[in-house]
Amino acid sequence: MPPDPPGSPPQDETPEELAQPFQHYFTPKPKVGHATRTLRFLYRGRVLSFTTDLGIFSYEGVDPGTSLLIENMELEEDENVLDIGCGWGAIGIAAAVSVPQGQATLVDVNHRAILLARQNARANHLSNVEVLQGDLFAPVGERRFDLIATNPPYKAGRDLVIRALEEAPAHLTPGGRLLLVGKGSQGVLFYQRWLEERWASVEVMGRRSGYRVLKASGPPASP
Ligand SMILES: C[S@@+](CC[C@H](N)C(=O)[O-])C[C@H]1O[C@@H](n2cnc3c(N)ncnc32)[C@H](O)[C@@H]1O
Repeated sequence: MPPDPPGSPPQDETPEELAQPFQHYFTPKPKVGHATRTLRFLYRGRVLSFTTDLGIFSYEGVDPGTSLLIENMELEEDENVLDIGCGWGAIGIAAAVSVPQGQATLVDVNHRAILLARQNARANHLSNVEVLQGDLFAPVGERRFDLIATNPPYKAGRDLVIRALEEAPAHLTPGGRLLLVGKGSQGVLFYQRWLEERWASVEVMGRRSGYRVLKASGPPASP
């Protein structure tokens, strides 16, 4: 299938829906208009190209926390990765480049983000990407992954972020790990302590401009 041209918006809303006022980026079906942008970044010697749009997180450029997480993502070529809250796909699509014999699964609640992440996977000629819409781990059922990577939806509230952390162990393979990025004002120290109290190991993999990337492994037994 030929890639969608960069900059073309996904056609998923009616004109009446587009006339609605501002929505949060985590709205399941954003009703703001379109203003697509094309972004590029270099990852492992490869230029990745992305279309972004209004109504989704960080549509103007790669979020600095996301960028730090991507820099600290360590993957084997045959691993399977889950990106929870994928937005337009920066983390999951970069992960897919690193796992040519594995797969990247991207999940978001936001329909427009899902359409863009699919479009971006095609535009970067990646066939090992699947993009699913839904709440946190619900779309993947009981599947397990070697790495769960997330820049979680802090603005959606602490209860949602904690639910993601509580549900993560049931979706990791033995030896699997969780990679999470956040900054001080998003409560990353709170989440670091929360993880340290429950997981066997929590390492700070990277820090920059108030952001830190946490790698947690040895999860508590899942129910
Ligand atoms: C901070 S953004 C990160 C987006 C992208 N991963 C990035 O780094 O640019 C968090 C994402 O989580 C999504 N989200 C919010 N609530 C969610 C939920 N219950 N289940 C899945 N995704 C959710 C939002 O739509 C948003 O795209």
